[in-house]
Amino acid sequence: MGKLILIAVLMMVVIANIEGTTEVAAGTAVLVGSNPNEEDIDGGFSSLDGMLQWAIGHSDPGVLKERSEIAQRMSLEELSNRQTELKELMEKLKMPSDAQLMLIAVNDLDNSSLPLEHHRRALEELLVLVEHIDNAIDLQKLGGFSVLIRKLDHSEPEIRTAAAWVLGKASQNNPIVQKQVLELGALTMLMKMMKSHTTEEAVKALFAISALIRNNLNGQNLFYQKAGDMMLQEVLSNSNLDIRLHKKSLFLIADLAESQLENENTVEVSFFSNQLLLKAMVDSMASSDLDLQEKALYAIKNILLLRSTKVLLFKDYCKLNEALERTRKQLQQFMVDDDLREYATDVESLRKEVELTFLQKLDKVTQAAL
Ligand SMILES: *[C@@H]1O[C@H](CO)[C@@H](O)[C@H](O)[C@H]1NC(C)=O
Repeated sequence: MGKLILIAVLMMVVIANIEGTTEVAAGTAVLVGSNPNEEDIDGGFSSLDGMLQWAIGHSDPGVLKERSEIAQRMSLEELSNRQTELKELMEKLKMPSDAQLMLIAVNDLDNSSLPLEHHRRALEELLVLVEHIDNAIDLQKLGGFSVLIRKLDHSEPEIRTAAAWVLGKASQNNPIVQKQVLELGALTMLMKMMKSHTTEEAVKALFAISALIRNNLNGQNLFYQKAGDMMLQEVLSNSNLDIRLHKKSLFLIADLAESQLENENTVEVSFFSNQLLLKAMVDSMASSDLDLQEKALYAIKNILLLRSTKVLLFKDYCKLNEALERTRKQLQQFMVDDDLREYATDVESLRKEVELTFLQKLDKVTQAAL
């Protein structure tokens, strides 16, 4: 689609530039030379956007109109020459493939003699490109992931952050990429980045961690081995941290519990019985942010559904009873507000569900004790 628009725009430019062919040719020559080592790449178009901007910038409507009038006055021979030129140009105008663009970006990223600005731009381009699952797999074939993972250690937080973001995007719903990125040791580095003083770095690191271990049992086991419970507990217990980190943590826990529900017969994981973590989750229900409350409730519900969960821990240590009651009252207050009523009602029904699951589980334990 983008290519079609671009070609259409370029055709307009070509027709408009009856006398100024050299200008177009100069522009396109750069396009064609997709050799990453050629210096003129810098002056050329590093992206479709760049080309489009250039083409639009060169197509003043007034000039276009005037020139199309000239075109009408052209002789048949002239017109035919123009058509041949146009055809040649279109042939030269082979767009670089995504794989070529990724190769250029990876080479730039790997070239330490290039200024930081180039690395930043390469990461931005990769971020867009890896959104396509095929590209993410091609990037693996190009050896792009080891280059990216090395950047997680970069001295500039901005570069580390962007590299984590690309890795997370590429790993999302992509078991092949997840496997390679895990094998290259990214998880430990990303977990280290969670201690960053830069919010954005921690946010992107957590995003990447989640993407890397989602629906991936090997990744999850590695996360448990590397004390992922402590990492998340520290996030949840730190009220100074950005709320996005709290939400992402709760979301990840809910996701892990769901995965554990499906595999409970094979392994028991101490992660879900870490009482500090459970308490931090229950405490986060006290937030006045409905979205956060909802995520906390959902994660707690999933954990309560696990057979191995010690419900008394929730009752005695985490004071889940009290927390649920406090949340009920708070939600009722939200319901008075027209804007919040609907959302608060949804969260309240989730809260009731959690309460019911909790009481049933408690009942079973008390019955068994009698
Ligand atoms: C790294 O970039 C410099 C400066 O553009 C260039 O001269 C050099 O050839 C590049 N190295 C590689 C391995 O591409």
